[in-house]
Amino acid sequence: MIDLRSDTGTRPSPAMREAMARAEVGDEQRREDPTVLALEERAAAFLGHEEAVYLPTATMANEIALAILGVRGTELIVEENAHIMIAELGGAAFHSGLQTRGLPGYRGRITSDQVRAAVHASDGFHIPTASVLALENTHNTAGGTIWPLDEFAAVVETARGIGLRVHLDGARLANAAVALGVPASEWGRHCDTVTLCLSKGLGCPLGALLAGSRELMRRARVEKHRFGGAMRQAGIVAAAGVYALEHNVDRLADDHERARRLAEGWYERGVPVDPERVETNFVQVDVGALGMEKDEALARLEAEGVALTPTVVPGVLRALTHLDVTDDDVERAIELAPRALGVLAVSG
Ligand SMILES: Cc1ncc(COP(=O)(O)O)c(C=O)c1O
Repeated sequence: MIDLRSDTGTRPSPAMREAMARAEVGDEQRREDPTVLALEERAAAFLGHEEAVYLPTATMANEIALAILGVRGTELIVEENAHIMIAELGGAAFHSGLQTRGLPGYRGRITSDQVRAAVHASDGFHIPTASVLALENTHNTAGGTIWPLDEFAAVVETARGIGLRVHLDGARLANAAVALGVPASEWGRHCDTVTLCLSKGLGCPLGALLAGSRELMRRARVEKHRFGGAMRQAGIVAAAGVYALEHNVDRLADDHERARRLAEGWYERGVPVDPERVETNFVQVDVGALGMEKDEALARLEAEGVALTPTVVPGVLRALTHLDVTDDDVERAIELAPRALGVLAVSG
């Protein structure tokens, strides 16, 4: 099976496993694990902040950010298909007492005007005001799309100007950085807090970081404990993170190149994809345009040996490239998917 379902499917490489086996460890909860401390220091610089906190998952990082930035009984403003909105089980309400206001996005981006219009001045009695804005880069459900830096900075400035704190869900921020050839910190530094996930394209078995000011990270460590995320000899997995930040960032360009090749190959063979819309490691396939239900298309693809996943967009599936997807996998998928979907005769 050529597994293009998600970049979360990456498995630690032999070299990463070796780094893990060699890791020096200590009690992470007491901040005595040297490998975790090294990872946090490195990640803080990578994300453009004073300090970073190591966490088991990006979901926990996002939820801790909302807990420390948000004010209970106020609103969280977020693009309507962001991970925080549709895939964290209502965590903003559950953990932090935030009411979520979802705004329609264009390729996962929202505008300053939308943010301004969504924030209501409270009358102190009936009307809830907002306390947090959360942005996502790259944007998962929009198809791995990137926030251009100037547009991002302008929206953050608007939000700050009307009194909001800003969180960036940068689970795949490294993909955006590599695709545009700018440091991740160029987005990160504008925000109060930033999440980075290690277990997607960066190839770690688990782990995420939340970065921000020393004061915010002091509060994040309190919430980390409250969420049950304070660990013990976590250096054994943090070593994978140190390895990934050193070896697996620049190589994301290979995943992006493979996604482009996949999209072009499919496009040439009549699969409904738009190669122009491939910005990072995602390829969106509009099987609805073939008059096919997503489930049927997925089953037909799987029968030919190619695994994709559905997206929230009607009729659209996605294929992701990552560390464990080779050039050969891409070439085979280019041949197999058109046959599975019954489009255009294929060579061979
Ligand atoms: C944009 C985004 N943020 C956060 C997460 C959460 O990551 P995890 O499942 O590791 O908690 C994901 C996972 O797919 C994601 O795509």
